[in-house]
Amino acid sequence: MHATQNLSDFIEATFSSRSENEALARVIVSAFAARLDPTLEELDDVRTAVSEAVTNAIVHGYRGGLGQVHMRCELQQRTLTIAVEDEGVGIADVEQAMQPLYTSRPEEERSGMGFTMMQAFMDKLSVESKPGCGTKVVMCKSFRVPQDDATNPEPDSSGQTGGHEEP
Ligand SMILES: Nc1ncnc2c1ncn2[C@@H]1O[C@H](COP(=O)(O)OP(=O)(O)O)[C@@H](O)[C@H]1O
Ligand SMILES: [Mg+2]
Repeated sequence: MHATQNLSDFIEATFSSRSENEALARVIVSAFAARLDPTLEELDDVRTAVSEAVTNAIVHGYRGGLGQVHMRCELQQRTLTIAVEDEGVGIADVEQAMQPLYTSRPEEERSGMGFTMMQAFMDKLSVESKPGCGTKVVMCKSFRVPQDDATNPEPDSSGQTGGHEEP
């Protein structure tokens, strides 16, 4: 058996670009983030951001056609990093695409607020894209330390308080 030291806590899912799988992606990230004992607001933020990123991969990346969407959720202490990647059409001008209200598909009544929401609900967002190759969206969010520990700190030997670390 190969046990890898320092392997982070993660889950990866690759799914087809069907609209039904947007809901699946939200369930996966919620279930994964549950171990952080998140607030409902934190969970909602992450679910919304994932939903926007996956929807973009499906409707823009693959333009409704079939392709693969890769999602990786990774935890480092209380920071959750989520990557959503497609091998679709890509984005020629990422800066323009990230502007609030910008949409390349106004005829479909898209709001143009997907990236803005990802930015608002997560702490960090980065977008890498190459026309003809695809798009990778990476976003991070640090979750707050659960209330019980924060209000009832028990000092440990290192002098830190409120930690949730395993021995
Ligand atoms: N995965 C993607 N592949 C190709 N283009 C994308 C992708 N994600 C976003 N875009 C481009 O960025 C624009 C802005 O995205 P977004 O802020 O989510 O607004 P909306 O989806 O409402 O158009 C989209 O209209 C599209 O042109
Ligand atoms: Mg969008």
